[in-house]
Amino acid sequence: MEILHSSRWTITARSRHPDSYERRFGTAFAHSVRRAFGVPCSSGSAALTIALQAVGIGPGDEVIVPGLTWVACASAVAHLGAVPVLADICPTSLCMAPEAVEAAITPATRAVLAVHMYASRVDVGRLQNICDERGLLLIEDASQAHGGSLSEGVIGSFGVISIFSFQQTKLLAAGEGGIAVTDDPGLFDKLQKFRADGRIYSDAPLDGGFYDLSDIGGVMGRNLCMSEFHAAILLEGVQRLDSENRHRATMAGELSSRLDAIGGMAIVRDDLAEPDGGTFYKIPLSMDDEALLRLGPVLVSRALSAELNLPIAPLDLPLDRNPLYQPLTSPLIARTPGLADHVDPQRFQLPNAVAAWGRCIALPHECLLGGLPEVDAIAAGIEKLRAQASRLAVLDRESK
Ligand SMILES: Cc1ncc(COP(=O)(O)O)c(C=O)c1O
Repeated sequence: MEILHSSRWTITARSRHPDSYERRFGTAFAHSVRRAFGVPCSSGSAALTIALQAVGIGPGDEVIVPGLTWVACASAVAHLGAVPVLADICPTSLCMAPEAVEAAITPATRAVLAVHMYASRVDVGRLQNICDERGLLLIEDASQAHGGSLSEGVIGSFGVISIFSFQQTKLLAAGEGGIAVTDDPGLFDKLQKFRADGRIYSDAPLDGGFYDLSDIGGVMGRNLCMSEFHAAILLEGVQRLDSENRHRATMAGELSSRLDAIGGMAIVRDDLAEPDGGTFYKIPLSMDDEALLRLGPVLVSRALSAELNLPIAPLDLPLDRNPLYQPLTSPLIARTPGLADHVDPQRFQLPNAVAAWGRCIALPHECLLGGLPEVDAIAAGIEKLRAQASRLAVLDRESK
């Protein structure tokens, strides 16, 4: 309400007040992940785009991205005319495997996008070593791991730039939103310019009120700014993040022991050091029960969603077969001779990603924000599903 009645709804307008929520949130969030600078923006995809632009990724460059992730990780690269090289995942964490990254490096590789996925952290320490040895840039995508940590440091503090999404389903959410954080003043300058039509933060009061942005230019950006409403929601949310993460971790432990007792499904998590530093964005459950595997992840997640009234879904489809991933529709790629074959998603081998898709379903993180009765209900739903799996298969056949 304060923002609604104020003279500032966004940093791209003048205001009578010197302090914007956007700048306060950008600084607070950057400091919470031990970074010097933060540039809030309109989405995680926008944050990926300005991060790639700030480090100079463009046509001819290859960027290694996981073969199993949200499509934006690859499409942000393709939109710039660069080649997303899809690397397979590690089956025990569902995150990009360092060995697959090493195997994918070519003379054209410029950067590696290290993405933390579901309830796991990618082995960013090993990826950083590979990047250091091979002279590559590491960009961290922590859109699914707000508030996590590893023995090497806090998630969001790795690589030259880290990005986050604050889209509605995320651990810290504002409907839509994103941020790029960095320690490098030069990159901070570029990130700002790419997200605000070439403008950077100003501290000077101008005629007619304070203006958050100075018309510096020198770079052709876009308007990818975050509104004051979103920044205020996030500034408040960031204070709850740690306690919510702790609660989710406790409830995940409870769910895990119930699943051990039931059998047939188990939570998939990384086995990196610092077990307390993990987060639970989506909770992937791997099925090892023949009857459930025969039903498949689509039917199992539909049945469990109906039973529990929760949005349970299969994993993201691997990018070699994901209908959302269409790199040839990027004009920069389609019009560059010889690039089409190079970008073709089907040229990449992703056996671990494909196998993981066939055996996993994913619960949303909010199902861990309740208490033990909710965890008991999830376990009971899974037990019922397991007991009824053969009957469900018959019903499914008969309905076709
Ligand atoms: C790993 C990852 N990166 C990037 C994004 C893109 O974020 P947004 O949806 O805010 O554009 C997402 C969104 O789901 C994501 O999961």
